[in-house]
Amino acid sequence: MQLKNKKILLGVTGGIAAYKAPDLVRKLVAQGASVRVVLTDSALEFVSPLALQAVSGNPVHHALLDPSAEAAMGHIELAKWADILLIAPATANCLARLAHGLADDLLSTLYLATTADVFVAPAMNQQMWAAPATQANLHVLKQRHIQFLGPAAGEQACGDVGAGRMVEPIDIATAIANAYSHPQDQQLLLNKRVLITAGPTREALDPVRYLSNHSSGKMGYAIAAAAVKAGAKVTLVSGPTNLETPPDVHRLTCSSAADMHALVMSHVADCDIFVATAAVADYRAEHESSEKIKKTDDKLTLTLVKNPDILKDVAALEPAPFTVGFAAETQNVEAYATKKLQSKKLDMIAANDVSDADIGFNSDNNALLLLWSDGRESLPRAPKFELANQLIGAVARQYDKKHNAHGTD
Ligand code: PMT
Repeated sequence: MQLKNKKILLGVTGGIAAYKAPDLVRKLVAQGASVRVVLTDSALEFVSPLALQAVSGNPVHHALLDPSAEAAMGHIELAKWADILLIAPATANCLARLAHGLADDLLSTLYLATTADVFVAPAMNQQMWAAPATQANLHVLKQRHIQFLGPAAGEQACGDVGAGRMVEPIDIATAIANAYSHPQDQQLLLNKRVLITAGPTREALDPVRYLSNHSSGKMGYAIAAAAVKAGAKVTLVSGPTNLETPPDVHRLTCSSAADMHALVMSHVADCDIFVATAAVADYRAEHESSEKIKKTDDKLTLTLVKNPDILKDVAALEPAPFTVGFAAETQNVEAYATKKLQSKKLDMIAANDVSDADIGFNSDNNALLLLWSDGRESLPRAPKFELANQLIGAVARQYDKKHNAHGTD
């Protein structure tokens, strides 16, 4: 019953997966949620309002300008009522309308009018999902912290095979329940000061070129948001990303590993927990050219020198905060992560297998293996925002264990 007392507004749009909406309502209700349903015009072609009314126990909403509905619960009241706006299935048309801020039907108006957390489970033909216009809309919506569930890949109603299927109702309900699972409800990190690094670093070669990596910052930003929800005061030291700062997070930006090191060292003194999610470049050019390097010879040799190891330096402080590292590995994941845990004297390490292109760098999903001196926890593949909540839960438990063992608060 992880969704007990949560009010969920379920928006159903006109795709074949709309026939699964009554099952989705039942799964959400089974988690303790109170559910109201909004149907678009085209959704009415695929699913019966009566069925949705029966399983939700509430009248189904459809018209933007419905005098009887306005008298009882107009669109603004409905928008204010919801803790969560879930749109499932969300068609390509729906994503476009949300991205462009249209407000000519009830669902799009509610999206603009609500301050609820927004989850979207897309469902469409695989080619429509891959279309540049859809991907551009997706990009815009992700910047606005909309949380995407899927789509899943597989055989589609039209016979195509690929990404575009709606995630199954049970998985949508579980993902949302996990997003509201205990860390934030119990405020496990109430008033703890948490410092987090995120994103890539850029190591300049000359005024126009740099060495970097594919980190998007999504994992670190998700952890920052989860820590805030768990009651922490969060400072996020971020390399260059396109992400918006999560609400109530104090963000400091930097570019190079040296800059990130300096920012972390000047903010770590009064922090309780440090989480190093950033993909920090291990090396930088020994000499940064002040002029653009010219294409003169067939070969160019760059001499690289080691960057400071931020994580290691934080863990070596006296006293050190509870220190959590990440390990991005492509092979022998557990063995290499264990070595980093021990050699850098960390309290915990979160290992991810970045050889799988579907998770890790720049993906919305990840899978983590958490290791500490006398324990481990495997967090299976899930959206990063969900894993972030689970990670914060595990960090809070191990932090308490360490501090209770030492007799401090
Ligand atoms: O940003 P996303 O696109 O969401 O992708 C997430 C991620 C894959 C980047 C993230 O989950 C992750 O694995 N981050 C760590 C990447 C990394 O640099 O791993 P590493 O094994 O090379 O480094 C080990 C640890 O030392 C990391 O915590 C790193 O932040 C830290 N480090 C490394 C080098 C350095 N000079 N200073 C550091 O603090």
